[in-house]
Formats: sequence, structure tokens, C-alpha cells
Amino acid sequence: MKSVIPVSLPSNAYQVVVAPSGIDHLGGWLAGGEKPLVKPGQKLLLVSNPAIFKQYGDRALSSLTQAGYVVETCLLPAGERYKTLKSIQKIYDAALAFHLERKSAMVALGGGVIGDMTGFAAATWLRGVSVVQVPTSLLAMVDASIGGKTGVNHPQGKNLIGAFHQPRLVMIDPLVLKTLPAREFRAGMAEVIKYGVIWDRDLFETLEAAPRLDQYRYLGDGLLHTVLTRSCQAKAEVVSQDEKEAGLRAILNYGHTIGHAVESLMHYRGVNHGEAVAIGMVAAGKIATVLNYWTAAEETRQLRLLEKAALPTQIPPQLGAGDILDLLQGDKKVEDGQVRFVMPKGLGAALVTGDITRDAILAAL
Ligand code: GLY
Repeated sequence: MKSVIPVSLPSNAYQVVVAPSGIDHLGGWLAGGEKPLVKPGQKLLLVSNPAIFKQYGDRALSSLTQAGYVVETCLLPAGERYKTLKSIQKIYDAALAFHLERKSAMVALGGGVIGDMTGFAAATWLRGVSVVQVPTSLLAMVDASIGGKTGVNHPQGKNLIGAFHQPRLVMIDPLVLKTLPAREFRAGMAEVIKYGVIWDRDLFETLEAAPRLDQYRYLGDGLLHTVLTRSCQAKAEVVSQDEKEAGLRAILNYGHTIGHAVESLMHYRGVNHGEAVAIGMVAAGKIATVLNYWTAAEETRQLRLLEKAALPTQIPPQLGAGDILDLLQGDKKVEDGQVRFVMPKGLGAALVTGDITRDAILAAL
């Protein structure tokens, strides 16, 4: 089972490949075809973290060297707290030592943190070299690796420093999810369910029909392939219509407004990104019912699906509604002083609005 999903951008179109054992064919995808994505003989800087590299590094390296590339590796410590300019400096140092040139490329092998940082380093090294994304977490597969958002955190806030830099190729190997911790798998499911709510009602209903969604091993190859391809398709369609987030792309932030506030107030401890998004989706869903964007029955269907993925649905009890509201005012999603919320329009569509009153938010919280 292999799928190729096009991301149709006018000047940087590329493909998302979903293929079991895709890591072993990475070199072929880059070098093959009439016009190689990166010319064989070129240098590639493979960026990863020690744990992922131990599991998949050799396979990626051997596929790339067999295709004729000269590969050097740069390993960075794992975790969101290392998503900093200091880590970017390490990538630059490796690029310098390895004499990475304009026609060379960087390859990100890892989760969202590695993908975002490698993308940012590639966007800025020599004013831009190619980057290839090989995501190893479900979250990175369905969200972070597609669409060209790259960057690092500032001590004062997440993703405050960044650039748009589309990859040349996204290679998704579903089999690597086998070794992903269950909690991280569920975090990715939050984004998958999000696509069902905001874009793809069929996907939503497919997930409803699944017996379990909380662990990789319960999905089976067929459902997993559908989950990956439909989610990537949703992301690709949205990004193709609005690459730089002038409008539509903001619907991808469904659940993220309150979700980010929760993550931030918890100081990124005890709740991961996907879990925070799930909590944010439940809160946004409540607001949507009160304001008639969808029905109470649709809100319940969303809740049931998140529960089926064993995701948290309640705001942690130690957080006060007032704290969350205050934090929302300082969020990136504020425009002209108005907090921007993504609201579902029934199941399978969404819109962005600044018309959510403080009272409506308070009531939902
Ligand atoms: N993760 C949201 C976006 O790519 O726009």
C-alpha cells in the first residue's frame, strides 16, 4: 500500500509519500525520476536525535549513500526544550564543517521538533537550501512535516522565531510508528480527529466506525493508511489554497487557541501538544454549540471520538478560567485585540472568527 499526495503550490510543489518501509527507499525517491529532487553526488546533512537515529539512522543512511549521496549526520538532544536557536547554531556548525553548499540539502529524521529545526536551518543556511522531511511521530507525519512552517521557540513563547520553507519531499513510513510511545501516538490522533472535524467528514465517520483509536497496534495497516493519507490530504489541500496563512490555513488551528493557553499555563509539563489540542477542541466545541455553529449532537460525537483515542477532554483543574482568558489576549492568534477562534461549521468544515465574546469563552471554560 503506497500513496502519493501532491502539495500543489505554484512555485514549490512537492509530494508526500506514504509508503511502508519508505525509509529504505528514501534515496531512490530523491535521486530517481527524470529530474532528481536533489542531484546524486550532492551532500546531505541528516539531522536527527540520538534515540531516533539509533532506531532508523542506519537504514536512512544506507538508502541515501546507495543512491549516490555523501551524507553527514548532526544529532541534537531530543525534546521541545531544545527547540532553540542554540540547537540551530549546532546545525549551522555541522553545515559549515561539512561544507554544505547551495545545491546540498538537509534531511530531517525525527518528530516535529527535529523537523521544525531542520526546516529553519535549511531556510536560512546560505539563504536557503533544500530540506527533506522524514517524520517519525504521528503528529509530525500528519501536521508538522507538511506545509513549510519551520522555526524555534523563544524563551518567552513557542514558535516565535521562524520562516516558511517548503520541503522538497515528505517521506512517511507508517511502520516507524510501531516504536512510537502510545502517548505520543494518541497526541497525533488529536490532530487526525481535528482534520475530520474541520475538513473531512468521511474521515471523521471512518474514525467513528473504528473499534479503537488509542494505540497503533489496534488500528491495523488498512485503517492506519487511511488515517495517514486522509490527514495528509487535508493538510495538503488547505496549504495549497493558502500557503502563508492569509486566511483559510488558520482553520488548522482548531483547538489550538485554548490548547496553547493550557500548554503554556502548565509550563509544557504534564500535558503534551496533542493532549492540549484535544482539550482545546472540546472547549471550542462547547462554544460552537452555544453559538449554534453546530449541534449538541455533533459536539458529543467529537467528544466521543477524542475519548476513544484516550485523550484528555477536561481543562486541568489547577487552571482558572481567568488565567486562560488573560493568556489568550497575548496569543499569536490575536488580531486587532480580538481573540481569533476556529469554529466548526457542522462536521467537516470550519471558519475563523473574531466574534467570540469573553462571556461565551467563560461559559465554555
Ligand atoms: N500546524 C498548523 C499549520 O501548519 O498551519
